[in-house]
Order: sequence, then structure tokens, then C-alpha cells
Amino acid sequence: MLPEASARKPEDSPPFSLPSNLAIQSTSRTKSPHLALIMDGNGRWAARRGLPRSEGHRQGAKAVRRVVEGAARLGVGTLTLYAFSSDNWRRPQAEVEALMALFRRFLIQEIPICLRHGVQVRVIGHRHRLREDVSDAIERCEAATAGGQRMTLRLAVDYSSRAQLAKAARLVVDGCPEEMERALGRVNHPLECASPVDLLVRTSGEKRLSDFLLWECAYAELHFVDTLWPDFGAADVEEALLELSRRQRRFGGLGEQPAGTPADSRDPIRTGVR
Ligand code: FPP
Repeated sequence: MLPEASARKPEDSPPFSLPSNLAIQSTSRTKSPHLALIMDGNGRWAARRGLPRSEGHRQGAKAVRRVVEGAARLGVGTLTLYAFSSDNWRRPQAEVEALMALFRRFLIQEIPICLRHGVQVRVIGHRHRLREDVSDAIERCEAATAGGQRMTLRLAVDYSSRAQLAKAARLVVDGCPEEMERALGRVNHPLECASPVDLLVRTSGEKRLSDFLLWECAYAELHFVDTLWPDFGAADVEEALLELSRRQRRFGGLGEQPAGTPADSRDPIRTGVR
């Protein structure tokens, strides 16, 4: 992981600390915001340079490292990254293979870095459909980083929000309350880690949710930036958090009560997960 990095000029970036003016209204009980990122634009980044798409993804993985470190330093409580949607299986096999190899390598290589920064890694999505070497790496990384207290990094791989919601609904319709209970207690449960997202950022100028965290984004602030994902860095995370701090969040009310209170106490799926 690059130290104190911003994507554009990593070597010139000043050290990060939580800005004192960052008064973020978070729905999280810990008051550490949940930041979700749709990492888009790897292919265009590569195409503009006459490089193969796989090189865009490789540079994208470097951006992930910068962003994870920057987010942890800036006080983000949960960072959820959309790494591979269930619809991404439609891509050419070579690209899918390259992405899976990248995820596997990342999960193994990042263990010591996550430990250093107190980052706990969790993977959400259909992990049972992934290659065995990838799911083994997931288990290894999750187990090794389980004690991380500073930030939870959630990687969404083979993830579909609609599939997740449909699964939860099926459990209810099938009258399986015990299974639902059991499922809710597990890391991979249908509404897993359904803590509300405070800020959703999508890079590359596209303005879509693409089946990502549809439930958790009910009251998320949305922020779309033109930067292509491989150029994104810690400075962009800071800018996004500043943008969040400028938003007035009312959660359907008039904005007078303390942020998060009513939503937290009435939300049936607030499970205490950061
Ligand atoms: C979307 O951009 C990006 C993806 C489908 C893959 C995301 C993967 C990474 C950021 C790299 C590795 C991640 C980890 C966690 C190690 P696109 O390829 O669709 O870009 P385009 O729209 O410009 O073609």
C-alpha cells in the first residue's frame, strides 16, 4: 500500500488526518461514516493509454490500496467496494479470470497491511460460486483480519443487491424464521452487514447504482465524480467526505433531531454492525 497517497501525485501528498471541520452526519452508531464506492472506469483508463483492460484493473487494484489506507486514516468506519457484480460474469472469460486472479492476490498481499491499519476484511456476495483458490483466499484474509477495530473493509464480489433481497424475502415467505435468524447471525447472511450507507460514490462519470447496496443506500447521499477509478486516491476520499459533511441529511424528517437517532431506533435491520 502506498503511504499517504493521492492518485494524481502520490509522492507529493501531505499526511492525512481527520479534518477538524469534518462534521459528518452518519447513520452509524459509531459516528464513523459508511462509505460505499462503485469503482468504475478501469477499462476506459486503459483504452485511453492503448493498454489492455487488464492493465486498467491492475492499476485499479493500486487505487484500492490507496483508498483503503486513506479511508482508514480519515475515520471511515465501513468501506464497501464494488469489485465484481453478478452481472460482470457476462464479460469475456479472460477478463473475468484476470479479475479473479487480481482479487486473490490482493486478499493475500493485503493481510499484513490491513493488520497494520486495523482493517477487518469481509467479502459479500455469492462466494460459493467463486473459484476455490479465490474463496480460500477470502477465508484466509477474513480470518487473519477479524480482529481489526479501526475500519471494516467490505469487498463485494459476485454481488447482486436484488439477489440478496430476493433471498431474504424467500426465507420469510418459506416461513423459515429460524433459518432467517441463523442467517442474520452469519457473516454471509442475506441482508449481511446491512448498515446504512452514508455516502455512495461512483467514479468515471456514470450515474447509476448498478444493483449495488439498494437497501443500504435508502438514505445514502450520492456523489458522482468524473475521475476514472485508477486515478482515484486518498485525496478524493477526503473530498468526498467533505462533500458529505456539507450535505444536510433529514432522513425524511425536518432535520432538527440529532442525525441517525430515529432511523437507528426504528430500523429493523440495524444490527449493530459498523
Ligand atoms: C468497472 O470498470 C470495474 C470493475 C468491473 C472491476 C473493479 C476492479 C478493480 C477496481 C480492481 C481490483 C479490485 C480489487 C478489490 C483488488 P470497467 O472495467 O467496467 O471500466 P469501463 O466502464 O471503463 O470499461
